[in-house]
Amino acid sequence: MRVEQELVQLCAPKDGPPAEMIFGDWYPALRADGLKRGETAVTMLLGIPMLLGRKSDGALFAMRDLCPHRGIPLSAGWFDGETVQCKYHGWRFEPCSGRCEEIPSLTSHDHLEPTKIFANSFPVAERDGYAWVYVPEAGAGRVTDLAALPPVPELPKFGKRFRSAHLVADLPCNVDHGIIGLMDPAHGPFVHRAWWWRSAASIHEKTKQFEPIPDGFRMSAHAPSSNSAPYRLLGKPVTTIDFTLPNRRYETIRAVNAKGKESWFASLTTVTPVTASTCRIDVIAAWDIFYHIPFVTPVAKYFGAKFVAQDQQTMIEQARGLRSNPGLMLIDDADKPAKWYFALKQRRLIGVGEHPLNGPVELHWRS
Ligand code: FES
Ligand SMILES: [Fe+2]
Repeated sequence: MRVEQELVQLCAPKDGPPAEMIFGDWYPALRADGLKRGETAVTMLLGIPMLLGRKSDGALFAMRDLCPHRGIPLSAGWFDGETVQCKYHGWRFEPCSGRCEEIPSLTSHDHLEPTKIFANSFPVAERDGYAWVYVPEAGAGRVTDLAALPPVPELPKFGKRFRSAHLVADLPCNVDHGIIGLMDPAHGPFVHRAWWWRSAASIHEKTKQFEPIPDGFRMSAHAPSSNSAPYRLLGKPVTTIDFTLPNRRYETIRAVNAKGKESWFASLTTVTPVTASTCRIDVIAAWDIFYHIPFVTPVAKYFGAKFVAQDQQTMIEQARGLRSNPGLMLIDDADKPAKWYFALKQRRLIGVGEHPLNGPVELHWRS
């Protein structure tokens, strides 16, 4: 029996190497647009089990999914639209603040004031259909001054009328591999091979301008790859790609077609640590290109999903390799953005250091 158990452990897939995580920032926890009043959902964010829900008045909440009394998940209990009640001893919590409202076992002989007890709750804000949760540093205590927090990330939109779509994919590798995969320019011709996008034979030398921005870098305005078919439909598009810590890639494309009509596309892609060893990629996109054509959204979702699935499949294979902890390398210039990411992250984690870019730079690679 013991031998069998050991064998099972040896053969069970292990998570790959962990990455250090950046606390003290906003992360998309889950899609909130499907969360109705009185409903809850559970997820994991930066290794923290989370219970999210929507109160009867529409307010979202995010709590650590653990009762402060004896540690049972609060999700095992009940939510009546107002308070979360623990299944074990019935303690009742107001979920936005985490404040304990009732301890059923107390009698007139007790002097314990339940409202002095707090379950962990986190600031949460709804943007673009996501519940964004602010995850403070461990031991930082309850966040009471919401005005002191950084702004909640949001997808930029350049008009009132637009269509939008979102995609999600779990990645079995740590957040660093997820992010450097996201900014990696050299994998395109190999991972994203498809007749509708591009072929490996279309590989050619590229030169791109980068510039520093606070906590990140920008691939300066340029016309997107001439070898990508969908881009040819837009007119004269100008693309900007920003990466900012901890995990955000903003891409905007603004184009003027032959008739002088302006149109735009914007996306926000985030790679969020689920645990120290695993992450999830979320893409939200909005556009007013082809606004009047009804089936563009499902078509865009279909191709977007294929694109993300190609990255996901590659990272599943990569994770298999990473489990043996191989040495890795970053080469110039194609992996330069990855080097900047690691330098920026290190600077954020230790709180000192220079921005890795001290001015605009030009990178060259073939893709
Ligand atoms: S463990 Fe939650 S009330 Fe006791
Ligand atoms: Fe990719």
